[in-house]
Amino acid sequence: MSDLVRVGFVGCGLIARSHARGLQACGEATIVAVHDTDPERAHSFALDVVGTASVVVADAETVIETSEAVYVCTWTAAHADLVAAVAAAGKPVFCEKPLAIDLATAEAMTRAVESAGVVNQVGLVLRNSPSFRWLRHQVRSPELGPLMNIVFRDDQYLPTQGMYGSTWRGDVAKAGAGTLLEHSIHDLDLLGWMMGPIRSVSGRIGMVHGLDGIDDQASVLLVSESGAQATLTSVWHEVLSRPSQRRVEAFCRDAVLTLDGDWAGPVSIESSMGTDELEGSVLARAMATLDGLGVNPDAAFITAVRSSIPAYPDFRVAIEAHRLADAAYRSAATGGQPVDL
Ligand SMILES: NC(=O)c1ccc[n+]([C@@H]2O[C@H](COP(=O)([O-])OP(=O)(O)OC[C@H]3O[C@@H](n4cnc5c(N)ncnc54)[C@H](O)[C@@H]3O)[C@@H](O)[C@H]2O)c1
Repeated sequence: MSDLVRVGFVGCGLIARSHARGLQACGEATIVAVHDTDPERAHSFALDVVGTASVVVADAETVIETSEAVYVCTWTAAHADLVAAVAAAGKPVFCEKPLAIDLATAEAMTRAVESAGVVNQVGLVLRNSPSFRWLRHQVRSPELGPLMNIVFRDDQYLPTQGMYGSTWRGDVAKAGAGTLLEHSIHDLDLLGWMMGPIRSVSGRIGMVHGLDGIDDQASVLLVSESGAQATLTSVWHEVLSRPSQRRVEAFCRDAVLTLDGDWAGPVSIESSMGTDELEGSVLARAMATLDGLGVNPDAAFITAVRSSIPAYPDFRVAIEAHRLADAAYRSAATGGQPVDL
């Protein structure tokens, strides 16, 4: 195609590569400028992903000038200034999650993109997961009776090592906090998405690794407007054979649902009608036409940019997850007192 959307990247690490693959798969964008404060990162990203180092530029400002749409894929503390610069230039922005290291900054970023009127999307990519789309569809289905309870477990090895290799995740100034904000903001987003408005949050956190301000375990109790309850357990351990793993059990009045594997299942449903299990391509096909979300968040972003329509999930969606994380940390600071929302 001759009218490919000209995309730039600020931050050229792990997640930037994932988005570059998504853009390549959609075939409607071309990467024209990339910058990283670590020049080696920028060069290896450019060579591996674009095939030429000529797209490496000296600073974020040049990325913004050169591109029609910008991905902000730096560590979390650097998101806010970069998003503000992209919004000030009137250009669409895809920003990674968490938006910011605290709720107030995330809210300011949301105001910035909304008042600039720019297309904005956040990297809460599990909203595109066939597994979670299936689970959400089931727990909201009237045939299964009201949703009663969700048990959500998310564990992985401390991501300062292994394929992440990111020392910044152990630095509170750059990451803001640990497992609950940096990783399980996905889980809080998914729980709010499945359960509807959350009205009460209580939480406890722990720091076994001794990294200042970096929680490596969190237990959160959420109560929704409808009275449904959920518990989230989020852990960063030292078992290097276990990268990110999610297991969810959801109890409706008339069915029990399980999710093992946060993208392609297996997922299962058990009711008095019997038991069914789906995974892989069968699950993907079952979800393909369900809600129009698709499995490629980058394709969705490019479609929104091309058509100047709102992207999804946008910063406003992410604010809800930030509110839950903020409430959980505030509760933990009081020893677990519930915080009403
Ligand atoms: N959506 C997801 O599932 C998902 C998965 C992983 C990471 N993330 C998020 O993506 C972001 C990046 O994570 P990552 O794993 O790619 O980290 P990473 O360490 O692999 O890459 C981050 C890069 O940003 C660069 N950088 C930092 N500040 C910069 C600045 N001001 N200008 C230019 N470059 C800068 C660093 O040098 C580094 O190369 C984080 O916010 C993280 O939480 C999201």
